[in-house]
Amino acid sequence: MATAQIAFETLQVPIFSLVKTPLVQLYHVGKSTGLVIDVGSSNATVTPILDGIIQSKSSFSSKFAGDFANLHALNYLQKYGGLDALLPKRFLSTKATESFKNYQISHYALEDFKLSMLSVAEGAANQYQYPVTPKSYQLPNGSHVSVYREQIDLMESLFQPQLYQIPGVAIPEPAMDKPLTHGIITLILSSLKTLEGSLAGEHQTPNKFGEVLRELCGNILITGGSSLTTGFSQRILNDLYRSAGQLFAPQLQGRNITFGTLGNHHIGDIQDTWDRKFSAWKGATNLASMLNDYNGEADNLNIALENWFVTKSDYEEMGEDLILEKFK
Ligand SMILES: Nc1ncnc2c1ncn2[C@@H]1O[C@H](COP(=O)(O)OP(=O)(O)OP(=O)(O)O)[C@@H](O)[C@H]1O
Ligand SMILES: [Mg+2]
Repeated sequence: MATAQIAFETLQVPIFSLVKTPLVQLYHVGKSTGLVIDVGSSNATVTPILDGIIQSKSSFSSKFAGDFANLHALNYLQKYGGLDALLPKRFLSTKATESFKNYQISHYALEDFKLSMLSVAEGAANQYQYPVTPKSYQLPNGSHVSVYREQIDLMESLFQPQLYQIPGVAIPEPAMDKPLTHGIITLILSSLKTLEGSLAGEHQTPNKFGEVLRELCGNILITGGSSLTTGFSQRILNDLYRSAGQLFAPQLQGRNITFGTLGNHHIGDIQDTWDRKFSAWKGATNLASMLNDYNGEADNLNIALENWFVTKSDYEEMGEDLILEKFK
């Protein structure tokens, strides 16, 4: 409500909308059905979307995302000279505040460490003997650390959180009925399983869900800053390939299932990086720019206008109630 007030009254915009993040992320790649997997800093979320409708009962989220990986990286790096080693020397002598130092550590030291040193294993890391060649990392204070298995183990924590404990940090035991206690793959599988349950009432024929499943798995959108880690997307696809086919064998009735990711750019391309960090913003600007392309006959646009936007005159006429009704 406050947002609408600022938009119309302070900024005097002619037209306004509030759209949920995963939905614009999906529209950004030109789809209205898909499985959006967003791994950002504080949250990893899985959102199935069917024909432009967010399936909120089967949308799940957990805390096993970028900040959690930071915690692991911090726990590891601290062994080499404590927190001070993670600050450039010029900040040690100054009277910098604690919060400034923390910001430096999480935004520069840890992010750089993740970006340059860590990657995600192709499969469950503890089951594989990885031929890891040690890499040398220079800490902000100038000293060097040799990184061995941690190159993959630190990120594996997002996939199997309970296997990698940090002293003093309570990691909840995995529970079937608590999606937020699981790593990203189980979170995705729980979301799909719950979706099956919630669609069961609507679609009588049992193989109907099989079709929905095939469509979702063919349109997976992996986004968010943490998904930029080398190997991340591929690992998700590998694990789903291994587990979803088995779990949903009865629903698939012997038909093939393919797992495909959405995105217009190849991994590592600068556009891909931008998409993953700012997909919600880019999607929303696309949506807004559709309005400029309006030529009087675009049906889709009319639908979008009617359903998604509130105009200034409507707002002036109906006020708060309209906003609450429209964006509930
Ligand atoms: N190239 C990269 N490699 C690995 N991790 C990265 C990279 N770039 C950013 N990150 C991590 O991605 C996270 C930020 O992602 P994003 O901007 O999607 O989060 P957010 O939308 O702010 O958070 P949330 O969605 O949880 O509210 C941080 O944890 C950051 O360290
Ligand atoms: Mg985000």
